[in-house]
Amino acid sequence: MTANDVRADFPFFANSENCVYLDSAATTQKPQTVIDALTEFYNKYNANVSRGEYPLADAATRAYGEARRKVGRWFGTDEKNIAFTYNATDALNAAAQMLGDRVKRGKNVVVSPLEHHSALLPWMKICKESGAELRFVPLAADGSVDLNALEKLTDESTCAAVMTAGSNVSGYRAPLEKICGFFADKNVPLVIDAAQAAAHEKTDASKLKFEYMCLSAHKMYGPMGLGVLISGNDAARERAFRLGGGTVDEVTADGFTLRSAPESLEAGTPNVAGAVAFGAAIDYLSSLDVDALWKNECELADALRCELEKMNIRVAPCGKDPLPVVSFDPRFMHPLDMARLLGSFGFCVRSGRHCAHTATNALGFDSTVRVSLGIYNTREEINDLIEKIKFLKGKYGKL
Ligand code: ALA
Repeated sequence: MTANDVRADFPFFANSENCVYLDSAATTQKPQTVIDALTEFYNKYNANVSRGEYPLADAATRAYGEARRKVGRWFGTDEKNIAFTYNATDALNAAAQMLGDRVKRGKNVVVSPLEHHSALLPWMKICKESGAELRFVPLAADGSVDLNALEKLTDESTCAAVMTAGSNVSGYRAPLEKICGFFADKNVPLVIDAAQAAAHEKTDASKLKFEYMCLSAHKMYGPMGLGVLISGNDAARERAFRLGGGTVDEVTADGFTLRSAPESLEAGTPNVAGAVAFGAAIDYLSSLDVDALWKNECELADALRCELEKMNIRVAPCGKDPLPVVSFDPRFMHPLDMARLLGSFGFCVRSGRHCAHTATNALGFDSTVRVSLGIYNTREEINDLIEKIKFLKGKYGKL
């Protein structure tokens, strides 16, 4: 199966013929089945969930439950471990909040500099307020998280750790089993930011030990406005972070009793249509030979890295077997200028610091152009991009 086999499933490409979409790390395009699932929910069975006793409310509640089961199956975990949030940022904030009470002066939290602000900032705030230390694990020369340093920096005072499964800046892909095993052996609760990696690999939660794993539907060909908080064990699941309708069994003037998860983690009306559409995205991915498509996108990214290096363009180091995310500094022009010029030719790429300032700094860049691929990107698109960058270098490189 190739990218050309799936492109027709995405109406965006027929509607945007002059556009080469290379910003899937920011958000992926959506297949028609996902768009249909979203509109079908609102057209045919829109009702609130878990609150009404009439058949329409039952249908909406069933559809929401089915979406949760699909997400659970895809990630190799029971549906009760799947809580829907607003986005990955929301899930990451929830994880930090639920583990925050263990962070105290004299303790430390271990993070990697490759963390997105959504993963890093909640912990930075908790550490600052509590007087705990935030410990950054340095990167090895190849851009990977230095596992030897990780071992040295983690000690008996480490009370939590946050690690990305894949960097949105360099494309570094973490050796997740190794990292999970390391922290599990030390009894340190680990929060995994899988927002990027989940779009490019199958993560089997049943094989990994972690506290929480967080991701977004819209980076996995699903809709915006829906994140997933996956609990890695019973204790993780039974904490609560946001209270309100749907989270409690009983409330009196004296207090309340919490419902069990996942309802206890989903206060207020959830994004039901979004969850149903994410279920359709999981169905869609399940119907494809995703391994072949994921291999293709990584090969294209490797080819791009190679061509950029031949042009003496500085590519962010990304460790072994990276995700299809390529960041670079053209050197002959500012990354923001290059992104704008490429944009004027129809290439959609991101530039700047990618909401991950410590990552950009640790990789040794002020800012970069970032090209990120999805299952629908073709060799022709990457060839065209390379030609366009060569053209820009020929025109501006000699100034
Ligand atoms: N986190 C997204 C990105 O890297 C928005 O572009």
